[in-house]
Amino acid sequence: MDNPEFTNLSRSVQGHVVLITGAASGIGRATAKLFAREGAKVAVTDLGEERVEAVVEEIASENGVAKGWELDVTNSEQIKKVINEVALWGEENSPRLDVLINNAGLSASTSIDDPNYEAGWDISLAVMLTAQVKTIREALPHLREAKNPRIINISSTEGVGGSPTSSAYTAAKHGVVGLTRSLAVELGDEGITVNAVGPGPIHTGMTEAIPEEMKTKFARRRVPLRRYGHPEELAHGVLHLALPASSYITGHLLMVDGGMTIKNN
Ligand code: NAI
Repeated sequence: MDNPEFTNLSRSVQGHVVLITGAASGIGRATAKLFAREGAKVAVTDLGEERVEAVVEEIASENGVAKGWELDVTNSEQIKKVINEVALWGEENSPRLDVLINNAGLSASTSIDDPNYEAGWDISLAVMLTAQVKTIREALPHLREAKNPRIINISSTEGVGGSPTSSAYTAAKHGVVGLTRSLAVELGDEGITVNAVGPGPIHTGMTEAIPEEMKTKFARRRVPLRRYGHPEELAHGVLHLALPASSYITGHLLMVDGGMTIKNN
């Protein structure tokens, strides 16, 4: 790539075709809405047609461009079908996909001695790690045709540390960091950037069962910014990595965690 001459357009995803997994809730939903507000064409994918359509309608009501697909990221056939349909929707005569955001996730908390441990391990790895590999493999032929191809994988503070009863989740999220770094190196000569985002504690579907009092206590003790984050704050981190101007950032893990992972005392 020649020395880039950045313009205002380099700080815009206007017209870019963006696919987000797990986009019916929390961070995925906020990211879909932010990209649409920024002028991207957003493919909203998740489990459950009604949940997906609700987000598409929210975006349409703000005059954004979005289309919904039901997509279970553990289903290889569905991944293939949906990614190809999204690329055709992106641009009819020459399929287009610029940004892949691997966000789908769930929490399965089990101690290592739990009789059901293996079920939690299997689903955690399937949804949060193996699925990212599958979507990336299917999206690559399209990303290779894109002008500013971006892969963004959602990891976690659990991608750099660990917590009790979360070993499957933690293993998956550490795996995301390894996958991201290795692919950043492998795909670098093609100009495809591969980055990860590590959310700290965020107000989403995943954390809504935790009583507010516990959240406040946790945040005061562990997070320098003293609070849980909002999905929109995550979405802006993702957007930053997707910009054409972020062309020299790859293999990076961007923590959006209120400082949680750098706090010693
Ligand atoms: P959320 O529960 O609000 O959203 C997760 C979405 O993933 C849901 O809409 C769910 O339907 C979808 N999903 C689950 N299994 C799926 C499957 N098989 N196929 C397709 N979609 C599936 O949770 P949140 O917080 O927005 O999670 C987004 C990402 O952020 C996840 O990868 C999560 O691990 C990560 N994260 C969240 C944190 C938090 O505090 N909320 C902290 C660290 C990471």
